[in-house]
Amino acid sequence: MHTVKAIYPGTFDPLTNGHLDLIARGSKIVDQLVVAILRNSEKGTPLFTVPEREEMITEATRSFGNVSVTTFDGLLVDFARQQGAKAVLRGIRAISDYEYEFQMAMMNRKLDPELETLFMMPAEKYTYVSSRLIKGVFQLGGDVSALVPPLVVERLKAKVPNRL
Ligand code: PNS
Repeated sequence: MHTVKAIYPGTFDPLTNGHLDLIARGSKIVDQLVVAILRNSEKGTPLFTVPEREEMITEATRSFGNVSVTTFDGLLVDFARQQGAKAVLRGIRAISDYEYEFQMAMMNRKLDPELETLFMMPAEKYTYVSSRLIKGVFQLGGDVSALVPPLVVERLKAKVPNRL
């Protein structure tokens, strides 16, 4: 049987409702979706450890029958090949995401011409949501409860002093 497995890679520090929205959309069009957290991110010191992020995503995606969560390091194309995945799923929120995403997709195509990148757009209500903004706003006492899953709000409260 012909089945399509896709990887949804990212830093997910932390998971947002925008990520979850994309997971929901992606899981409807591929047979298996693997959410893959990059272990050796170059984005500086993360707020949540990789196991914490893995736990939060696993919990938040429990209701999807075809979504699994794992971690990877090294090249995404190598990980995708190991997994037998035909595609990478990425979200584009706004034109500002496009350049970075285009470069990554083209570099990944150069490295592995067989691997396709699928772009999907999250719901409009999440187009401005990013993990970076969530962390910054929460730290300054802002309410992010409509923008991340409840379990992420709980973890943020436990981890970050919030001025509210
Ligand atoms: O959520 P992010 O931080 O935008 O995700 C970036 C990610 C993890 C998709 C990207 O950094 C990645 O794939 N890193 C793995 C290393 C790699 O394959 N680099 C070459 C692709 S250009």
